[in-house]
Amino acid sequence: MSNRQIHLGLLAQPQGDHPAGWLKSRAPLDAATNIDYYRSVAALAEQGLFDLFFIADTPATRTDNLHVHSRNPEYNNRFEPVTLLSALAGFTKHIGLGATASTSFYEPYNIARLFASLDHISHGRAGWNIVTSANDYAARNYGLDKLPPHDERYVKAREFYQVVESLWDTWEDDAFVYERESCTYYDPAKYHVTDHEGKYFKIYGGLNIRRTPQGRPVIIQAGSSETGKNFAAETAEVVFASDPNLASGQRFYADLKSRLADFGREPDSLKIMAGLSVMVGESEAEAQDKYQELQRMIHPDVGIMRLSADLEADLSGLPLDEPVPIEMIPTKANFHQAYFNQIAGMIREQKLTLRQLYSAYERGKVTLCGTPQQITDHMMEWMEGGAADGFMMSFHIVPDDLADFVQKVVPEMQRRGVYRSAYTGNTLREHLGLTRPANRHSR
Ligand SMILES: Cc1cc2nc3c(=O)[nH]c(=O)nc-3n(C[C@H](O)[C@H](O)[C@H](O)COP(=O)(O)O)c2cc1C
Repeated sequence: MSNRQIHLGLLAQPQGDHPAGWLKSRAPLDAATNIDYYRSVAALAEQGLFDLFFIADTPATRTDNLHVHSRNPEYNNRFEPVTLLSALAGFTKHIGLGATASTSFYEPYNIARLFASLDHISHGRAGWNIVTSANDYAARNYGLDKLPPHDERYVKAREFYQVVESLWDTWEDDAFVYERESCTYYDPAKYHVTDHEGKYFKIYGGLNIRRTPQGRPVIIQAGSSETGKNFAAETAEVVFASDPNLASGQRFYADLKSRLADFGREPDSLKIMAGLSVMVGESEAEAQDKYQELQRMIHPDVGIMRLSADLEADLSGLPLDEPVPIEMIPTKANFHQAYFNQIAGMIREQKLTLRQLYSAYERGKVTLCGTPQQITDHMMEWMEGGAADGFMMSFHIVPDDLADFVQKVVPEMQRRGVYRSAYTGNTLREHLGLTRPANRHSR
């Protein structure tokens, strides 16, 4: 038996990622904009020795169906992620701090600067989740009516990434000499301008901040389409996977890792973290009861809205207790392909009623109800079965379920020798076992 170490990330949602989580959470009601509360959640994750504290994001509110969205805290009230992480950097010491920022809405210079600053402020703990975004709410805040087509967004993302990476190498590591005697603040020979003119971006300049503790912040991605996987194979160091079962997890893992060679990369230079949500109990039955109680609390409006958004089809007029007609499935997804495929598969294969479908659908992850032993067994099965290098954990009710995990599952993982008992490194790269990239200009 191997003792590969499990890596853990927390997909942080203030009151939990279950649509009914906020109804049961013991977090303050204003958790979404309460920095003191966020600080306590980050501290809890750090107590659990997580590699990464992660904030997902879309820069938009929902603008329609407000009567439905008003039942769900998820979208319309949240901190800007890099600002939030910069504040949390001062309250934490070890845990990595990752956030989403979209290549469809930022300029590369902004992103390079924001994440370089976060990497300095946190002493080497920053990670950037590159997304191309997947809904038109955000597009409409940035001068567009609609997002550009899926594959075109990735063409832009690739050029965006190349510019950002180049900007992060503006200064060689030892460029800033801070020499009072000779009145030399930096060595101009160790400055390198980015001179880029491409299809989407034109830049002549350098980043006005020295190279960061990690060399470059860690690059994260979560795309699972063909284009997304190729982009990840070329650029990503962490990928959030979203496979509903072991077999598809293994396929995704083998597929993505096999693409790395095309870009001259080693399999271990990219860590695949599988989405996992857990409900811990003294027994499996107790954990299941807690979960089912929560499922029954999903407001039908919210359940149907979540399905409709990910299937890209309006299911709101359909009867709750009859199977969803196969004709409702659009021919192709433009937003989240993995979520779309998951729902379409459930409609086709399981013939579920609308109510059953929204109670069973879990966005891109596996919910596991069980004892600490069962949960550890599951994680080891994925690790040893070649489906994951770690897990992107989300919890239905925060901080409640996160606390259960830290207090009950973490000790079990440690007892089996598959999880750290203390942080051994200081940077996110060190936690994940990723090398620090050399500056392209250094000799
Ligand atoms: C754990 C996880 C976190 C994600 N976070 C975000 C996010 O913050 N913002 C976003 O627009 N998409 C997010 N996504 C969605 C992916 O980036 C999405 O798959 C991608 O935008 C669509 O690309 P694809 O068609 O290549 O799969 C996340 C996905 C996963 C699994």
